[in-house]
Amino acid sequence: MAEALRQARKGFYSAHPNPRVGCVIVRDDVMLGAGWHEFTGGPHAEVNALAAAGDSAGADFYVTLEPCSHHGRTPPCVDAVIAARPARVIVAMQDPNPEISGRGLERLRDSGIEVVVGVLEAEARGLNPGFVKRMEQRLPFVSIKMALSLDGRSALANGVSKWITGEPARRDVQFLRARCSAILSTAQTVLADNPSLNLRLSNQDLEQARKLRHPVRVLVDSKLRLSGNEKIFSTQGEIWVYTCSADAALKASLSERGAQVIEIDADDTGRVSLPAMLQDMARRGINEVHTECGAGLAGALIERQLADQILLYQAPCLLGDQARGGFELGELTSMEQRTNCRICDIRQLGKDLRLTMNLNQD
Ligand SMILES: NC(=O)c1ccc[n+]([C@@H]2O[C@H](COP(=O)([O-])OP(=O)(O)OC[C@H]3O[C@@H](n4cnc5c(N)ncnc54)[C@H](OP(=O)(O)O)[C@@H]3O)[C@@H](O)[C@H]2O)c1
Repeated sequence: MAEALRQARKGFYSAHPNPRVGCVIVRDDVMLGAGWHEFTGGPHAEVNALAAAGDSAGADFYVTLEPCSHHGRTPPCVDAVIAARPARVIVAMQDPNPEISGRGLERLRDSGIEVVVGVLEAEARGLNPGFVKRMEQRLPFVSIKMALSLDGRSALANGVSKWITGEPARRDVQFLRARCSAILSTAQTVLADNPSLNLRLSNQDLEQARKLRHPVRVLVDSKLRLSGNEKIFSTQGEIWVYTCSADAALKASLSERGAQVIEIDADDTGRVSLPAMLQDMARRGINEVHTECGAGLAGALIERQLADQILLYQAPCLLGDQARGGFELGELTSMEQRTNCRICDIRQLGKDLRLTMNLNQD
């Protein structure tokens, strides 16, 4: 199964909106073939592994996700697996979609094939946090990237934040952009920094043969303050602007620059409703959201328990107490109100540290 997970990781940057899946076929301790799912519409991992293995009668199939039992863009994989007459199918995790979960396994068992479920399940779920959350909760997995000084500051009082961290940390962020379905930011950050928020890596950097996928860039702009003349609108890739403004002229000026303007309910503060926006993004197939914004939106996502992870790039510098904080959370009056995180990974990138932390977990 570890090898099947390794196969699945080859689709890390390309499988979206489908899950990353790998499959290995083994008989008498010999690996007959392996496969992975490269892109939506392309053959699934089991089909690729079968093509590589040839005759697989009596073999063991190791698959990181329950074989699909429905007709999507490709025929059900479970039919191809059954036709190959394996002895056993070992599955890391069931399909997370509650409407179809277990059906593929049932078909295999009904065909007399031994089925084992749950081998390296945590690792398999970890490979597809966005796909799993979208299927289970109809929401994307939201990760907040934040560059902070040692004293927890995200920008100077005058709004300047370029650059808190060094080049290796900023290059690392490019890989986070490459893996996500959507990069989320705000009109506020676009007006302050005029960023492109685009992917600037090559096929070679990502070890990809196919044309690179550019994640959609999503901007919160409740009142349509963006004009369409900002740098982001002249760079390659899709842009969605979420707003609660119905102003046709303002919408047209962004649409003319190629952006898709999506009007959505306002919350009780008159701003884009963040849960409604994320639900809409999930409906549009967004699995993983990589957020690059300031303290305002970062804090709002955390307060509403809509964020799953913080990727904190901590620079060994002090910006002082006049500079802006990292997360606007309102005043806390007791320690019980604090937001706890769990550190999952720490590494050094040049002179900076990167901490990966999970939220909403004890
Ligand atoms: N250190 C870093 O990693 C980093 C990264 C990016 C930016 N920055 C810096 O951060 C500064 C900008 O930070 P900021 O806090 O002013 O802006 P921000 O967090 O990027 O964006 C604030 C905007 O988010 C939206 N928002 C906030 N709370 C909301 C809620 N509850 N519901 C819906 N929408 C909500 C609002 O958009 P609407 O007004 O449209 O409703 C608000 O104007 C800039 O100076 C930039 O340089 C730092």
